[in-house]
Amino acid sequence: MSHIIHRNLRRTPPLAVSASGLTVRDSQGRSYLDASGGAAVSSLGHAHPDVLAAMHAQIDRNAYAHTAFFTCDAAEELATRLANDAPGDLDHVYLVSGGSEAMETALKLARQYWLEAGQPDRSVFIGLRQSYHGNTLGALAIGGNEWRRRPFEPLLMEVPRVSPCNEYRGRADGQSTEDYTAALLAELETTILEQGPQHIIGFVAETVVGATGGAVPPTPGYFKGVRKLCDQYGILLILDEVMCGMGRTGTLYAFEQDGVVPDLVVLGKGLGAGYQPIGAVLAREHIVRQLRDGSGAFLHGHTYMGHPVAAAAALAVQKVIQRDCLLGAVTVRGAAFRRMLRDAFGGHPHVGDIRGRGMLLALELVRDRDSKQPFDPACQLHAAVKEQAMSRGLMVYPMGGTIDGRNGDHILLAPPFIATEAELAEITSRLADALTSALTSAT
Ligand SMILES: Cc1ncc(COP(=O)(O)O)c(C=O)c1O
Repeated sequence: MSHIIHRNLRRTPPLAVSASGLTVRDSQGRSYLDASGGAAVSSLGHAHPDVLAAMHAQIDRNAYAHTAFFTCDAAEELATRLANDAPGDLDHVYLVSGGSEAMETALKLARQYWLEAGQPDRSVFIGLRQSYHGNTLGALAIGGNEWRRRPFEPLLMEVPRVSPCNEYRGRADGQSTEDYTAALLAELETTILEQGPQHIIGFVAETVVGATGGAVPPTPGYFKGVRKLCDQYGILLILDEVMCGMGRTGTLYAFEQDGVVPDLVVLGKGLGAGYQPIGAVLAREHIVRQLRDGSGAFLHGHTYMGHPVAAAAALAVQKVIQRDCLLGAVTVRGAAFRRMLRDAFGGHPHVGDIRGRGMLLALELVRDRDSKQPFDPACQLHAAVKEQAMSRGLMVYPMGGTIDGRNGDHILLAPPFIATEAELAEITSRLADALTSALTSAT
């Protein structure tokens, strides 16, 4: 009997014993092709020699130094690098241990910014339906992932939420993309005015929606419009790039492709690429200046923040991405992968949409393509896809509740940036078999 409280209390998952490249092996001798990087984490695959070497070297030099007493080279160098490679004056970095922790940090930093600016009445964040920002209570409150939120609803702060930018589901027949985008921005503006701009701390969104909606990219101009509204009404723009950042979409920061610079950016997952638990918040100069010139301290902190080994791993990840030109690889191989998916599933009667950006892609599954009607949630199609894929030695990241937290299914694909075209073809082929079996068994 396992003493771990596993995600499923009735089922112990396979025991992973080793991993390298795209392959994870279990104790039964089975191997799995990692087509989802776990949950869009392992961007360099497993056992990358450069990252392991950097971690070993850091452990030998200094495995831990509490940030109340010391800073360390690895954290300083990582922060410098992230700031230098970020657009605009996103020059300040706060290092924590994961995505949720980073989101909590951003929320508190944003609140303290307004407090120190002499505007203590600001306490409202605006979020999006069908979004996810983490499982801690603050992050969960901001997010619009209904099935994750429901049991904890009484504990969550109230957050007004607007419609997500999801063309496949949200744009009406005959409506242009421009009109759809304008309608979303009008809805956001109405919500800002209803709440009163003077009460709002910021607007929080994933640049590309990850697991909740299934790799949903914004429409062209959406974030430019959002940035304009934030500037017009004097509220902060906080972008969650825990899943879509750090190169996953082909640029280091996904928002680079949307022509905006947020006030705060939240990072996780691909920052440490699975080698160490690490998350970060990047803040623009005016945010940090307000605190520096005011109280002089951010009222926050965690025991493991700025951890030397985590920072060394993340720094090595950054160096590999640059040295091996992996942003370009994501763009090129992401396009090739998308072509393979289109060839395999473009005419599939139960694949309604193939979407995403770079190496963050998804298939949305539907009962009927014309009406976009989803499968009955009781079928648990996403769970069947995962089971069938695992039995074929394939890791993908399917999820249900794609449309509204209850209805809809999608399969998220987020292979490591180092995946070869042959591996992507093998992923596509195994996925096609898994989907056929899942549709037979679940429906
Ligand atoms: C967009 C987004 N934000 C935040 C988080 C939370 O990150 P973590 O699971 O590291 O706490 C996730 C995790 O899936 C995520 O996808």
